[in-house]
Amino acid sequence: AEPLRIALAGLGTVGGGVIRVLDENRELIARRAGRPIEIVAVSARDRSKDRGVDLSRFAWVDDTAALADQDGIDTVVELVGGADGPALTLARRSIAAGRSFVTANKAMIAHHGLELAGAAEAGGVAFKYEAAVAGGIPVIKGLREGAAANQLSRIYGILNGTCNYILTTMEREGRDFAEVLAEAQALGYAEADPSFDIDGVDAAHKLSILSSLAFGSRLAFDGVVITGIRHVIAADIAEAAALGYRIRLVGIAEATEQGLFQRIHPYLVPVDHPLAHVSGSLNAVVAEGNFVGRLLFQGRGAGDGPTASAVVADLIDIARGEYGPAFAMPVAALSEQPAADAGGR
Ligand code: HSE
Repeated sequence: AEPLRIALAGLGTVGGGVIRVLDENRELIARRAGRPIEIVAVSARDRSKDRGVDLSRFAWVDDTAALADQDGIDTVVELVGGADGPALTLARRSIAAGRSFVTANKAMIAHHGLELAGAAEAGGVAFKYEAAVAGGIPVIKGLREGAAANQLSRIYGILNGTCNYILTTMEREGRDFAEVLAEAQALGYAEADPSFDIDGVDAAHKLSILSSLAFGSRLAFDGVVITGIRHVIAADIAEAAALGYRIRLVGIAEATEQGLFQRIHPYLVPVDHPLAHVSGSLNAVVAEGNFVGRLLFQGRGAGDGPTASAVVADLIDIARGEYGPAFAMPVAALSEQPAADAGGR
């Protein structure tokens, strides 16, 4: 069968991971996808950097946005990051050129997801972003497909691996914030600008995406109220422990009679709650549906392997011809505000 031909923009932690997954699981992926998936062209800032993978077999394109116009490409994968700038230019150009588009870029989706998904629907191409929320956990597919029969009224969880690594390492070892942040960066969990992680913005991007999926409403990133973990000190963690709690950066979205509630804060989590046992770079998402009951998704939320695993899952969908809507339903059918759960809780 004809391979699915990919152009890959961005060769950082996740980009390198995607190449390794496609290399190491080549046969299995081809069988599951019904055809091989081949990277044809790549683009990144620095051509000479050693990434531990052989790039000589791919065409190198200096201008990232020009990947959209490469001959013979079916799908563009964007792992550059940033809500605007080159990533957004590449997304618009790729979809306009009739390519399917896969991204891990939660900032871009939180700000421009509806525009891009609408353009993809109009153009009959796929727009997929499983890797954008909670790394390797298939929470986008889980909510959109798995829980599609349910009215979801509430969704919450630990959505940032860097913050969770910092908080749980401080908790375990009584160490300082700054030192542990440097470690999370070295492990490849943090964003290029780590203030997005520690100030809660990254988690807010993800929460706005999850709440849109859960409630079938339009993305509302501007409505997320955000407090990060910058001011949490070791003594706070010790005081919380003395009261029977652990501190976790938690995002909560709820469809209420007063409208959409979306908040990111360091919360006190009782030690017997499942979220209190989520440690290191793990993420966890809890969703409550009116027929399925409570769902708990847990797994690694950051890092090359988990995030690349989600990117490649999207590529397999596309290779199979499964395009589907990017959000809970076609963009035009999303509601302005979520409907509050009439049944109450
Ligand atoms: N910086 C993000 C995190 C990466 O720490 O969770 C995954 O989105």
